[in-house]
Amino acid sequence: MSSFADFQNEIYLAGLAGVCPELPMTAAGLAERARELLDAVAYAYVAGSASAERTAAANEAAFDRYRLIPRMWRGTSASDARDLSVEVLGTRLAAPVLTAPVGVLGLLHERGEAIVAEVTRELGLGMVLSTAASTPIEEAAAPAGAWWYQLYWPNDDELARSFVERAVEAGARAIVVTVDTPGLGWRPRDLELAHLPFLHGKGIANYLSDPVFRARLSAPPEESEEALRMAVLTWVGLFGNHGLRPADIGRLRAWTDLPIAVKGVLHPDDARQMVDAGADAVIVSNHGGRQVDGSIAALDALPAVVATVGDRTDVLFDSGIRTGTDVMIALSLGAKAVLYGRPWAYGLGLAGAAGVRHALRILLADLDVAMGLSGCAAVSDLSRAMLATAR
Ligand code: FNR
Repeated sequence: MSSFADFQNEIYLAGLAGVCPELPMTAAGLAERARELLDAVAYAYVAGSASAERTAAANEAAFDRYRLIPRMWRGTSASDARDLSVEVLGTRLAAPVLTAPVGVLGLLHERGEAIVAEVTRELGLGMVLSTAASTPIEEAAAPAGAWWYQLYWPNDDELARSFVERAVEAGARAIVVTVDTPGLGWRPRDLELAHLPFLHGKGIANYLSDPVFRARLSAPPEESEEALRMAVLTWVGLFGNHGLRPADIGRLRAWTDLPIAVKGVLHPDDARQMVDAGADAVIVSNHGGRQVDGSIAALDALPAVVATVGDRTDVLFDSGIRTGTDVMIALSLGAKAVLYGRPWAYGLGLAGAAGVRHALRILLADLDVAMGLSGCAAVSDLSRAMLATAR
């Protein structure tokens, strides 16, 4: 039974006592508020995409080419008539939404990852925890419900394996291997501030806490500023892995029995090769336009990937989701669930746990209300038949 829509009544009832929500009610409003109030470096890191940011804009604009065709009088409008839950890669979620892996949450809040873990658990959503987290896997995941681990596969298999084993030990239910980031994209907003968090020792907690990584160092990073500087340089040498090929999924498979999702696929042939090599799911994503500017909007890449591998694997989606009806459109095009990125990160920076909760609840309530008003009692009611192409 879905209760996400209750947020609407909660707000209107508070209005009777003269209370309005402290945070904006849209993703765009959260972004705007974050631009006004967040520290410039933190805002640039979250908001920034590659180059002229055309792909970031295209990600959102792509949704505008589809329109839903709501169905009437189908008995779905009362909130207890709906159930938004899904099972993805063996993980049961109260709604088809996971928080996307977003690195370096310490820029936004000192308890960033733990807060996201707590709030997603409370709401029954999934969390995908980044390799580039500001806190070690074990600490970040302790308060989590259903969570998956996102692997940036370092240029050192022993270290990659250690990350995966730590994630398994800490209770991850799937491994999400990001394939679009063998190196960082060209990001003018960060470049203008000459700011790369990792070089400041931020977002490398999983490395600094890892026994394999530490064995590569001549002195423990806590020992002195110089030792930390050397650890950062070691990180620089290990982060990018240019040698990976689709067949390497087989090696990852040998390290864990958990389901494996590949994140960052846009071309259907890449999807086919990754699935042939053993991936259990494909996440269509262009990293929020942060990697290759001018690349295809993620939503425009979704149908061909679904057509190519959707019959043998789950396809998930991210990049550009901003509203509940965006979720409906992505699911109608064949995504099993979506990853939600920037809006909750802005919420985290603006108001900590309350901000993450708010950002997620506005998405979920919008989704729940729109599902009910469109005649959908469950996500299985979403299909191409719900969509028209906008002119
Ligand atoms: C990301 N993303 C990302 N992806 C990943 O696999 N590992 C990571 O550590 C990060 N870190 C990260 C930091 C920040 C600040 C952003 C905005 C994004 C990409 C993320 O998982 C997701 O693909 C995008 O956020 C989707 O785009 P939108 O919808 O947020 O614009």
